[in-house]
Amino acid sequence: MGMGGVGFVPIQGTADLSRIEAPVTVKAYLLCAFAAFGGVFFGYDTGWMGGVVIMPYFVSMYTGVPYNYETSEPKNFSLPSPTVSLMTSILSCGTFFGSLIAGDLADFVGRRTTIIYGCLVFAMGCILQIASTNQLVLFVMGRLIAGLGVGFISAVIILYMSEIAPRKVRGALVSGYQFCITLGILLANCVTYSTSGRSDSGSYRIPIAIQFLWALILGIGLYLLPESPRYHVQKGKLDLAAKDLALVRGQAVDSEYIKDELAEIVANHEYEMQMIPQTSYIGSWMACFQGSIRKGNSNLRRTLLGAGMQMCQQLTGINFIFYFGPVFFNQIKNGPNPFQTTLVTTLVNVLSTPISFWTIEKFGRRLLIIIGAVGMIIAQYIVAILGVTAGKEHADGSHNEAAIKAMIAFICINIFSFATTWGPVGWVIVGESFPLPIRSRGVGISTASNWFWNCIIGTITPFMVGNDQGGLGSNVFFVWGSLCFLSLAFAYFLVPEMKGLSLEQIDQMMEEVEPRRSRGWVATTTFAAEMGHLRPEKGNYMVSPHLPGQVQEFPEGGASQRFREELPGYNQAYFPR
Ligand code: BGC
Repeated sequence: MGMGGVGFVPIQGTADLSRIEAPVTVKAYLLCAFAAFGGVFFGYDTGWMGGVVIMPYFVSMYTGVPYNYETSEPKNFSLPSPTVSLMTSILSCGTFFGSLIAGDLADFVGRRTTIIYGCLVFAMGCILQIASTNQLVLFVMGRLIAGLGVGFISAVIILYMSEIAPRKVRGALVSGYQFCITLGILLANCVTYSTSGRSDSGSYRIPIAIQFLWALILGIGLYLLPESPRYHVQKGKLDLAAKDLALVRGQAVDSEYIKDELAEIVANHEYEMQMIPQTSYIGSWMACFQGSIRKGNSNLRRTLLGAGMQMCQQLTGINFIFYFGPVFFNQIKNGPNPFQTTLVTTLVNVLSTPISFWTIEKFGRRLLIIIGAVGMIIAQYIVAILGVTAGKEHADGSHNEAAIKAMIAFICINIFSFATTWGPVGWVIVGESFPLPIRSRGVGISTASNWFWNCIIGTITPFMVGNDQGGLGSNVFFVWGSLCFLSLAFAYFLVPEMKGLSLEQIDQMMEEVEPRRSRGWVATTTFAAEMGHLRPEKGNYMVSPHLPGQVQEFPEGGASQRFREELPGYNQAYFPR
């Protein structure tokens, strides 16, 4: 059923800006927050491989060389680099395609169902990985398939959360997702560390099998949660949309609040559909790249915003620390224990992220990433400068311990700067940037950009820092620090402030102001008012049917029959016939 023939569906809204979103109950907040759990998948799955590829049992299995657990011999027991590279990066390959496919699926079968499919695909991938003993092909296939599942989940959770979260806490809730990513990385480190000494297949099978638990919790949880009301609006199923919205706001389905919010979503969707005509399947993807690059609200600009945000997030170099930290710290001969140091860096990541729950809503997204980029530039330059001065390797291979400690402290400050800013804000912006007709694809493309750059960094970094390769050592921080200038410029020129606005108001704001002036923008009208979806009651205004170009308040007792007949658009579509 199309939007015009909705029967008696409450799509009459309000011109009152304070009523475009229904109030939310505590239960509803918790409901929205649950989806953040999907971050654990993301973090855990990226985190466990690094620990497993150096496990003696695993190395022995793939190389066929026996290992003596008593004497820890042979020394420097490791897998060939191409194998490690393949096992690690194949995940990003799966996640890259998974995010793009999810962009499609989320529009066809819904956000919630796509996440549940993601859990199933992921579980299949895990089974293959657990089943493999020394069959590289089986293991790599398993990782590729699990990656597809993680791709589904990582893209659609952002979409789903942004669509159901109340606007005042949307940033904080999506930051909860980032927090779960950091928890996932920490958990993966702890689990692989605790099983690494085992001399049986449990060493690698336990860390993989634990992930079934994540799939089960997320899959069952999402099965019980409602679909995103915006998905049902897109499909023209307004009665279902009203039910979903009532659930995520904790209000009665026939309450005025739900009617007003739904009317706003519907009106915005109608408006966007006029701007983005729906054509063929290919056309619907191409729509993400349409419009002028100079226009703040063109689809092209929004796609560049989402994908660029994720590119800049990765180019801060954060994953250098999480993926190659142990190797890097190991190169420091008289440095602290590499595992403990990695644990400290991972903990700093986990413990600093929650600060953003508050700052993101208090100071906004834009300011946070500008400050974060400056923080990372300073911290990484200091690490790099220390590395070529006080922390430089002595002739006997040792280092100045105080300088090394200072370097590690600044690495932690760098992680703090990321975890409180670019980590969460990267995802928040992606969820907020797109209008409904291209939202799921836009979020898919942006998430794919995260995995693409993640993969590039994962692949080239060993060649940049390895002693037998580029030999950059700590100089690599000059590279990351310099790349943060790019992130800073991107944030300053291209990222608008979206704090506190509804997804529909963000559309309006992008159309009206440049990112640099977006902070002070306030909405002056609702979409329901613009699109003629006002409830015909006193207090609501409409374009006058008698005096073109002027607005007129609805008369006491609602619109008269004459108004209904005379006002174009204000017709039977919004009234039961
Ligand atoms: C990034 C990941 C990174 C993680 C670290 C996420 O936002 O996308 O690549 O490993 O943050 O906490």
